[in-house]
Amino acid sequence: MKSRTLRIDEQGLLRTLDQTRLPFERCEMVLQSAADCHRAISTMQVRGAPLIGAVGAWGLAFALRDDPTDEGLYRAARWLAGARPTAVNLRWAVERTMRRARVLEPGARAKAARDEAVAICDEDVECNRRIGEYGARLIGALADARDRALQILTHCNAGRIATVEHGTALAPVYRLHELGIPVHVWVDETRPRNQGASLTAWELAERGVAHTVIVDNAGGLLMRAGRVDAVIVGCDRVAANGDVANKIGTYLKALAARDCGLPFWVACPVSTIDSQCTSGDDIPIEERDPAEVTHVSGRLEDGATGRVRVVPEGSLAFNPGFDVTPARLVSGLITEHGVFPASAAGIARALAGGCT
Ligand code: MRU
Repeated sequence: MKSRTLRIDEQGLLRTLDQTRLPFERCEMVLQSAADCHRAISTMQVRGAPLIGAVGAWGLAFALRDDPTDEGLYRAARWLAGARPTAVNLRWAVERTMRRARVLEPGARAKAARDEAVAICDEDVECNRRIGEYGARLIGALADARDRALQILTHCNAGRIATVEHGTALAPVYRLHELGIPVHVWVDETRPRNQGASLTAWELAERGVAHTVIVDNAGGLLMRAGRVDAVIVGCDRVAANGDVANKIGTYLKALAARDCGLPFWVACPVSTIDSQCTSGDDIPIEERDPAEVTHVSGRLEDGATGRVRVVPEGSLAFNPGFDVTPARLVSGLITEHGVFPASAAGIARALAGGCT
């Protein structure tokens, strides 16, 4: 339980890591209200599609503790689900919690919502464990043909701290590492917020997985030089046709992988599939503060953390947070039910639990 990114402590308090303080400080924060949860999501103290879903569900449970009326329920659900726009897991988790609560008398709603939030967290752990198993089998098969460590390239952070536990894209990496299969990860820094450099590198180091941070534009060179065996990324929303939205820059990695004949895998729980989006064109892309482009945050020489400007005063900056990779570039979706083609048929099978 202690290794979970979101957990209830011995005093019954909901605790998570403040990810804006990483990698230099490991600070835990307590979430005690819907406002705490909304703020944590919108300021990216918690981030990553599955984790913001879990925190959104908890937010609704707190909201119902304070106001269990129909009006309170719908208002809080709308507000929490809108805290960030692209990752559908947030809407999915809030709506699931709302459905569980709304059929009950107001007095019973808060407890039911809390139970649902707990279930969402527990299921996330199990889904990601299974993604790790399926992904390790798939990627591990590439190891047999090589006499060196498997070389995996990933973008952004789809690791343990983007979820309640294990991660999505990194779950197979952790599983391979556990199995003693040598693996090395090329970590895209992931400008503008550097989730790769600051978060993925941090958590891989914590678990003792070999890794090297590269600038976002280095991946193509490494792929062409035969220094990457597979690309694996997480995902914020999968459309019904298999198009996937993930952190800005993912599409370029998929193009380079295709050009180099390398597999490009997307790891996600089925809660990331949005059947209401016909294609990637329907996925809302978060536009973030241009200051994330014009400035860079980090640790200064004197040990303090700070922000420096890297763009001339007066230059415009544009900051879309995500891009869409077309289904045709995706080798497959690694889900808790198995690995499926990124296509309408594959998605239907994934949603049916792999049973059709
Ligand atoms: O903006 P972020 O840091 O929330 O973006 C996260 C990503 O793009 C991840 O790849 C995605 O959410 C998958 S997390 C398992």
